[in-house]
Amino acid sequence: MRVVKTIPDLRAARATLGQSVGVVLTMGALHAGHLALVRAARADHDHVLATIFVNPTQFTPGEDFARYPRPIERDLDLLRDHGVDLVFTPTPDVMYPPGFQTHITVDGVTQGLEGAARPGHFMGVATVVAKFFNLTQPATTYFGQKDAQQVVVVRRMVRDLDFPLAVAVIPTEREPDGLAMSSRNVYLTPDQRQGATALRRALLAAGAAYETGERDPAALREAALAALHDCGGEVEYVSLNDPRTLAPVDRPTEAPLLLSLVVRYGRTRLLDNGLLPASLNTRAGLSAALGGE
Ligand code: PAJ
Repeated sequence: MRVVKTIPDLRAARATLGQSVGVVLTMGALHAGHLALVRAARADHDHVLATIFVNPTQFTPGEDFARYPRPIERDLDLLRDHGVDLVFTPTPDVMYPPGFQTHITVDGVTQGLEGAARPGHFMGVATVVAKFFNLTQPATTYFGQKDAQQVVVVRRMVRDLDFPLAVAVIPTEREPDGLAMSSRNVYLTPDQRQGATALRRALLAAGAAYETGERDPAALREAALAALHDCGGEVEYVSLNDPRTLAPVDRPTEAPLLLSLVVRYGRTRLLDNGLLPASLNTRAGLSAALGGE
């Protein structure tokens, strides 16, 4: 496995890999969720390229940029063990040299949910992801369901700016008790960690209501909210949206729905989501539904 830190070194190493390259973009502090993306890339392509970069421009003021975990040696060991060929670990000055002044704005799909809660976040994401696509030239890039709005934003940008690549969506990896894996779970106290299992229960409760025929968005939200009652944190939002456009849904529909939750524990925001019907939470179901045409 080669590890490169500069753009000339990345371009030279990338040129030796040919066409069949799967790319996984990360901010490091790798867990089984990231590794599920790597595994999918490994299965589909001759070569796998991963990036590790804690992107300062997607953190809003007061967020955890400085304290975001950076266990780089452990991350590299994990990537090596999972058959990654090439890792790009730039520093902020490599990605944003003096004079940098180009930014990508994706409009409609960034307006609600995390975009509303974290102003500027998706401009930072879209810009860095576009740079990584240009630098790494993926045949397929792999994104996690965990950040469902990010998938929709990236797919919108890929279509609008004609990036020649496919975006695959990999289902959320969970801890044995159902908590979605996240690099930020380490911030939770034992009590908060216990309470956080309610997020998964909320998704399951809404899924069960949907299964019995419930289609009223208000009732589906209520089912989720009831399960969050004892989460021990502050519920920031429970939202039902069209998974293609992220438009809020307030009328009964037979079309698939995206249920998104955010619960705040002190300064730590935990997010989770699931498609309704829950049978769509597979790679095929997600890849078709989230930000699909
Ligand atoms: P990061 O939070 O490190 O996540 C990297 C990728 O792993 C994303 O596609 C994310 O959705 C996926 N992922 C995270 N947790 C997951 C889980 N439990 N199961 C499955 N996939 C999971 O997302 C980012 O970094 C950044 O915004 C990035 C795209 C790298 C741009 O800076």
